[in-house]
Amino acid sequence: MTTPRHFLDLWPLDAASLRAILDDAKARKAARLGWPQGRPDADAPAAGRTLAMIFEKNSTRTRFSFDAAIRQLGGSGIISTGSDMQLGRGESIEDTARTLSRMVDAVMLRTDDHAKIECLADAASIPVINGLTDKSHPCQIIADLQALEEHSGPVAGKTIAWVGDGNNVCASYIHASARFGFKFVVACPADYRPKPEDLDRAAREGGHVEVTQDLRSAARGADCVVSDAWVSMGDLDHQARLVAFAPFQVDEVLMALAAPDAVFLHCLPAHRGEEVTAGVIDGPQSLVWEAAENRIHAQKSILAWCFGAVG
Ligand code: CP
Ligand code: NVA
Repeated sequence: MTTPRHFLDLWPLDAASLRAILDDAKARKAARLGWPQGRPDADAPAAGRTLAMIFEKNSTRTRFSFDAAIRQLGGSGIISTGSDMQLGRGESIEDTARTLSRMVDAVMLRTDDHAKIECLADAASIPVINGLTDKSHPCQIIADLQALEEHSGPVAGKTIAWVGDGNNVCASYIHASARFGFKFVVACPADYRPKPEDLDRAAREGGHVEVTQDLRSAARGADCVVSDAWVSMGDLDHQARLVAFAPFQVDEVLMALAAPDAVFLHCLPAHRGEEVTAGVIDGPQSLVWEAAENRIHAQKSILAWCFGAVG
């Protein structure tokens, strides 16, 4: 049995494969401009294939974009929550993987525990895709970088400033920094820094990542400013976070420190008045809706890569 092409994180893919995915996403988007969302792409690279999508956490964008993506690739999808499955009653991940491997062609999982997706991938004979875990959110970063490049040109050599929690989305940006060649500056409270293992690996693999508590120095001259919710799904220290992150808001004053043509990104859902002001997220520098749409295009190319049709 050949090892399936899993998309569990950005790390396992080399720079050329990730570039091929990003470029394919741009090309697929351009090729279907003005088409109805349900019309399949001309090449339909997933014709006859079925994607299972399992959600152990809430989702709007990931749920609808993966379902739309597999349809646009000419395939079909089956969505379930983890709690609706026997998984929710204690059936093992390994037995779930063995069963699904005989019924569908790929699995997307959103889970609260990254170890679960690694276990699923180890036991599956079909590709497994990370639709967000507690540790990373690689699909989001491909969509974000697509939006950034469509607006501002190649990301290599640019500076992206992250303001807020050193969380799962931040981790995937750290991974991407090493593969796509951009500088990534994280401004966060001391207690909410990115994981040392992500920072160490980025340093080993040529990523240019800096961590500071000074959000102004992080934003100064940046080509892109990114934020995310102060409280992620599964975080229990809600009140402590609201206090710690209060100074870490992206507002118009902070954006004015960035490069004159800087853009703003946020994976959504957003909390206006907390991590970002309405003026920024709803203003002319915001690319959040472009990035949200790009979840479809990026994931189509991730799926096509998993099926061997890209890269
Ligand atoms: N950005 C993102 O993954 O959104 P959802 O939680 O709505 O899927
Ligand atoms: N960091 C957020 C991202 C949501 C898409 C979370 O994990 O809840």
